[in-house]
Amino acid sequence: DATVAFDGEHQAGIATPVQGHLHFAAFDVTTTSRAELAGLLRDWTVAARAMCAGRPVGEDGAVDGSPLAPPEDTGEALDAGAGRLTLTVGLGPSLFDGRFGLADRRPPALVDLPAFPGEALDPARCGGDLAVQACADDPQVAVHAIRNLTRIAHGRAAIRWAQLGYGRAASTSPDQPTPRNLFGFKDGTANPGGDDAATLAEHVWVQPDDAAQQHPGAAWMTGGSYLVARRIAMVVETWDRTSLQEQEQVIGRTKGAGAPLGGTHERDEVDEVDPAALPASSHVRLAHPSRHGGARMLRRGFNYVDGSDGLGHLDAGLFFLAYQRDPRHAFVPVQQTLAAQDAMNEYVRHTGSSIWAVPPGTSPEGFWAEGLLT
Ligand code: HEM
Repeated sequence: DATVAFDGEHQAGIATPVQGHLHFAAFDVTTTSRAELAGLLRDWTVAARAMCAGRPVGEDGAVDGSPLAPPEDTGEALDAGAGRLTLTVGLGPSLFDGRFGLADRRPPALVDLPAFPGEALDPARCGGDLAVQACADDPQVAVHAIRNLTRIAHGRAAIRWAQLGYGRAASTSPDQPTPRNLFGFKDGTANPGGDDAATLAEHVWVQPDDAAQQHPGAAWMTGGSYLVARRIAMVVETWDRTSLQEQEQVIGRTKGAGAPLGGTHERDEVDEVDPAALPASSHVRLAHPSRHGGARMLRRGFNYVDGSDGLGHLDAGLFFLAYQRDPRHAFVPVQQTLAAQDAMNEYVRHTGSSIWAVPPGTSPEGFWAEGLLT
């Protein structure tokens, strides 16, 4: 049965191979007690560890408890196996606002994202105190995980917003064929490989020196990462009326092979092709590390289709997830450039936004964010 190890130096669900389905949930903490917050993360970790091993929640699971009590596990994933489930927790800036005495532990890299030109954010799809990213090969397994964690949180935290995604839009492993986003283009080609430890250490994992240099109170983040999650609506009807040549010039890659314009193969380097062949306003030219002091991030987004918008259009897009060592040097400057110049802006609209400090992984007896909360 396909399981991904839960405990380790880093949380699973970042550099581990991407699964087929996503259920992402943001929570508001409803208790004001720091002890209850720590208790919630402890209870979540125990349940998450069980579910990622393919076991039900609680000692008696879904069917072995008292017939007179509601079962501990809701049961809909009973026969599904672990489905390579990963559960990854994140802490939002608002968790450090003073309610829990954590204000002096807020890492400087956990910035409040600035406003970007052209975004159309819906407050009901933004922010939150806690997040759980559930990824699995079976959507029922991912939904079951979020449902049971929500149930465990009752009285301590409540869902603020959630997003389902499917058909991973990005790959973290060169062994996986690069999947395609809803524009029909390969997405994730230039990602750092999940087994490329040196690149991940440089661009994804928070290093011991980072906290020491910036803010001693943030040392608990060593081995963690920062996640930016953006719900980006894609105006597929307009895109679908655009010529193939125009589409390729917007992205800066060919639609078939995914090669940078001016190159031949998918893995040809964007900054090594004939610059005259790659439009200055193309997405890959503007997002490329050479434009941003070498900054890279690990993109792990999923496609979504949330029905229709009631006006005859699909409500479709990309739930963009990007992990990085410091958003001040990666997502923020890259998105500032894209928002100002990207030819793709005509076809996308950012409707949701959040940023999360993703703590390091757990030891087998440990719990999520224990370095912060104990
Ligand atoms: C590359 C699509 C939003 C950052 C790419 C590629 C595609 C793509 C097709 C080329 C293949 C690859 O290397 O993965 C999209 C779509 C978006 C979107 C459809 C929105 C709906 C964003 C955002 C950011 C971003 C918001 C960051 C602020 C990047 C980066 C690369 C990239 C860093 C790699 C560039 C390189 O090193 O060659 N994107 N993207 N993308 N994108 Fe996006």
